[in-house]
Amino acid sequence: MTGQRPAFIPPARPIIGEAEIEAAVRVLRSGMVVQGPEVAAFEQEFGELVANRHCVAVNSGTSALQLTLLALGVGPGDEVIVPSFSFAASANAVRLVGAEPIFVDIEPGSFCLDPEAVAAAVTTRTVAIMPVHLYGHPAAMDRIMAVAQRHSLAVVEDAAQAHDASLHGTPVGAFGTAGCFSFYPTKNMHSLEGGMISTADAGLARTLRLLRNQGMEQRYANEIVGANMRMTDVAAAIGRVQLTQLGEWTEQRRANAKYLDSNITGMVTPPVADAARHVYHQYTVRVRGDRDAAQARLHESGIGNAVYYPTPIHRLKPYLDKDGQPGPWELPETERAAAEVISLPVHPSLSPDDLERIVEAANLAGGAR
Ligand SMILES: Cc1ncc(COP(=O)(O)O)c(C=O)c1O
Repeated sequence: MTGQRPAFIPPARPIIGEAEIEAAVRVLRSGMVVQGPEVAAFEQEFGELVANRHCVAVNSGTSALQLTLLALGVGPGDEVIVPSFSFAASANAVRLVGAEPIFVDIEPGSFCLDPEAVAAAVTTRTVAIMPVHLYGHPAAMDRIMAVAQRHSLAVVEDAAQAHDASLHGTPVGAFGTAGCFSFYPTKNMHSLEGGMISTADAGLARTLRLLRNQGMEQRYANEIVGANMRMTDVAAAIGRVQLTQLGEWTEQRRANAKYLDSNITGMVTPPVADAARHVYHQYTVRVRGDRDAAQARLHESGIGNAVYYPTPIHRLKPYLDKDGQPGPWELPETERAAAEVISLPVHPSLSPDDLERIVEAANLAGGAR
């Protein structure tokens, strides 16, 4: 072969710029490094993204989910409705508090929880619903909240992938009892590691603040049993810098997605529900032919890509029954999505040339057999 291979376009490109580095150094030099003024400011500023709900910062998105379930008193004997088509963290949080995840199917038009399937899965043991705003697309919160209200259930939004997504103008994290965000490096904004919980309930916010810090508001005056899930001030300072960029990055993601939508013909481009603002944490297409061959062709063309998620949670080892079998779940749309999806690069660092290459490769790979 002659000529140079074109540069590889990674599926995600976490941003750590000079401003993030300066913010981290400033905090390190200050000596106030754990849950201090930066965390308080980050909570305040992030609140603007979630209709000014109370915000409580923690050390990861998983901690946000786990702590919220703990604060709501969810535990052994309780059932929580979750999608199986998600990252394992969603169901892990349920198991970590000793409750049982009840897996429900997704809507093919959004990859998020199907509200009718949610309604059908409610039992006398159900205490909460956990919709996941997968890939940055808001779940059908209007219909899910109606089911929750009918049965007096808590709603814990897993918004780990969906900062600044909305439905009918209401931001995710401002619908349910609580919203849980992740600031892992590949997310739409990050704090190296970190998480945030949003809630309209001041009492719940206080309980969350106690739980993340050994049950203390005043030092050594422990009120309840708690954990250490505090965010550092270094993380918060980085998160605050990223938050100032989030709007611009999200618009760039959306513009990139629009270009891909208009030009990709060889694969099924991502659906967007009515009144949904999709923030494209992932740009996820469906491949009707041989997915392995399509992925291999994309790689050959230098286009990073990945399958989120090849194995639905109910088929992962910790969720199999005692005979090593998946439970009695009927999740046809989940199974179909897991078999068909590929996520292509959509991150804000893509150049026009990168986008053209992605389109060309996707159209070629879409025909792969
Ligand atoms: C849907 C979903 N839920 C929860 C999490 C957990 O977030 P974290 O990695 O910050 O613990 C993630 C992120 O990885 C996620 O994608």
